[in-house]
Amino acid sequence: MKISVSRGSSVETQADALILPIYEDEKELRGAAGILDEATSGAVGAVLKAGDFRGKRGKTAVLYPDVGLRSRRLILTGLGKRGEQEAEAVRGAFAAAAREARNLRLSTVAWEAEEGFFDAPLAEAAGAAVEGVRLGLYTFDRFKTQNKEERHDLEGFTITTGAKNPPKELVSAVERADVICDAVVFARDLVSTPANHLTPRDLAAAAVGLAKGRKGLGVQVMDEKEMAKRGMNALLGVAKGSAQPPRFIILKYTGGKRKDPPVVLVGKGLTFDSGGISLKPAEKMDEMKSDMAGAAAVMGTLRAAADLSLPLNIVGLCPTTENLPGGNALKPGDVLTSLAGKTIEVVNTDAEGRLILADALAYAQTLKPAAVVDIATLTGACIVALGDIAIGMMGTDEGLKGKMRAASERTGERVWELPLWREYEELIKSDVADVKNSAGRYGGAITAAAFLKQFVGDYPWVHLDIAGPAWLTKDRPYIPKGASGIGVRLLVEFLALFSP
Ligand code: BES
Ligand code: MN
Ligand code: ZN
Repeated sequence: MKISVSRGSSVETQADALILPIYEDEKELRGAAGILDEATSGAVGAVLKAGDFRGKRGKTAVLYPDVGLRSRRLILTGLGKRGEQEAEAVRGAFAAAAREARNLRLSTVAWEAEEGFFDAPLAEAAGAAVEGVRLGLYTFDRFKTQNKEERHDLEGFTITTGAKNPPKELVSAVERADVICDAVVFARDLVSTPANHLTPRDLAAAAVGLAKGRKGLGVQVMDEKEMAKRGMNALLGVAKGSAQPPRFIILKYTGGKRKDPPVVLVGKGLTFDSGGISLKPAEKMDEMKSDMAGAAAVMGTLRAAADLSLPLNIVGLCPTTENLPGGNALKPGDVLTSLAGKTIEVVNTDAEGRLILADALAYAQTLKPAAVVDIATLTGACIVALGDIAIGMMGTDEGLKGKMRAASERTGERVWELPLWREYEELIKSDVADVKNSAGRYGGAITAAAFLKQFVGDYPWVHLDIAGPAWLTKDRPYIPKGASGIGVRLLVEFLALFSP
């Protein structure tokens, strides 16, 4: 879809529909809403007065004013009450309006960005509007061959402004949001893709594709031989049960000075997690194609970082494999020697994410990083704790966690901290090895992080457990059910806060 900014007011703009966001229970129609109302002989006021539309979150109304406008339709979209998570309200309202326009099979929509309407700066609100439209309209129909003619896509979203020259900040916020949405869509597509079409080698090929033609972005892919030479036996152990060979993807973005220590992002890349010999139940096992959502978030983030020319160095590490119960598979009780040299008793082969992350976190140390963030669909326990609403956050550095919270506030990708007290580390002690990979169900999200901590080097570290929000079973305002692409917007914002 083409997103553009141009000069003009609502009344003079020609599109298939104008979008008019409205706050709940606001008495007067001021500004653009007032002008539109006047131009249409009171069409907007009338629907509000009738109570058919009141500006409630998620609600829309379509008007056909007939006179006064160069656009045929007016889509009113509710923002809910003022003062409640405004950017999220804007994302949701624009997603709802865009879906309405798509349902009507329209091609173009327009909105007049009006100074003073939102509590937030206009540029921010406009960025949120773009996110709402683009992310709310996401679909994944690569494998649908039937009824193609029934599908319809919106072609253009124009943001107009009364100013002579559209303000620089507005234009750049809109462009930035558009680029970030490309990265979110990229991540969603990877997560949506079934495991037979996205093997570890395919994921590596996608990383190679990203680096091609992007300035400052390079890629290196390690195969199983190279991993064996280095001693990445935790990752190799997980891969043993599958016929597909594992890969270790390294994406390097150089936007800072040559010698600046990089921020390292580590993403869990299980292209399919059956549980291995500790096999998962059949129900919903298909959703485990999404167990590479962490890797997708990291790849999407590097894509956006390069496209936005962020002024810092970033390395993305994505260990990727399948977890299957083949004849050569890991068995409960097996002991592995990880890259860090620590030995791991594998008491449950379904706790495989932490095994591959252990080697990646040890590898990260060799990059002398300024900070390391890992992101993973790590535990069902985190879903029990937070549902699909929030990311579980744990870590060793208050400064990093603070930045992550700030990024979370700005993006609406919510994080919630769980405690990583020393007592939890007691629970993963093994009788036969240095650590065991599972401490059972209680406190499972935390004991998983406590396990990771054993492999964290001498660097500030934050762990994000996205098991809940990575895959939605119900539509949300601007996230259609399925792959959410969570983490991309959060990490891009985090990196922006990290930039010098
Ligand atoms: N990939 C799963 C976690 C998961 C579960 C993500 C459901 C999304 C939805 C992970 O590899 C896993 O199986 N974790 C186990 C750990 C347990 C065996 C200690 C879990 O959470 O049950
Ligand atoms: Mn598992
Ligand atoms: Zn898993």
